[in-house]
Amino acid sequence: MKSPLYASPWIYEFILNIIHGKERNKRFDFIAQQVRGNSVVDLACGSAKLASHLKNQDYRGYDLNKKFISDGKKRGLNVILKNVLDKDIPKADTVVIIDALHHMPSKKYDLMGQANRIAKKRVIAVEPYDTGGFLERFNHVLDADGINDHEDWLSKDELREFYKEFNGKIIEENGYMYLILDK
Ligand SMILES: C[S@@+](CC[C@H](N)C(=O)[O-])C[C@H]1O[C@@H](n2cnc3c(N)ncnc32)[C@H](O)[C@@H]1O
Repeated sequence: MKSPLYASPWIYEFILNIIHGKERNKRFDFIAQQVRGNSVVDLACGSAKLASHLKNQDYRGYDLNKKFISDGKKRGLNVILKNVLDKDIPKADTVVIIDALHHMPSKKYDLMGQANRIAKKRVIAVEPYDTGGFLERFNHVLDADGINDHEDWLSKDELREFYKEFNGKIIEENGYMYLILDK
């Protein structure tokens, strides 16, 4: 069942801002600083928040949430209703995957492979990890995107081991782990 979190981009942003506060904007600023080149593809873009944190780069976002995409289009953003694993997504200098790998646990290698194929200069993956907190037991309900059957939040060690397979730079900050892969 789809969580109310994914009913509209406004609800999504409202709830995430309550949960993460100012850290959420700081995180997107940090991601924007890591972008290289003039074009960015955002795989599983959600509400496309990254777009407003970029400087002058061309932004293209893909997601399967119809409401998120129609709203993004109304805001003038280049967002497209599409499965992020589709093979006809054109290349861009930087490809980002933010908070999406745990939504596609059985496809996480496919998603990384797709990002690697599309990126001309850099791949940036950003993931939260399971810290074992009480509220995290309800993540699979609160965070159900209505597209994937289930989620799998990796522990910090599991996520680090997964990232290490790609031989990139790993950065840990404020409960999130970043993987930066240069081409
Ligand atoms: C936690 S949200 C992250 C959204 C955004 N990246 C952010 O950080 O705000 C996960 C997103 O993945 C999208 N998604 C899941 N599987 C997908 C797929 N196969 N193709 C496209 N989008 C997908 C969902 O619709 C949801 O918007």
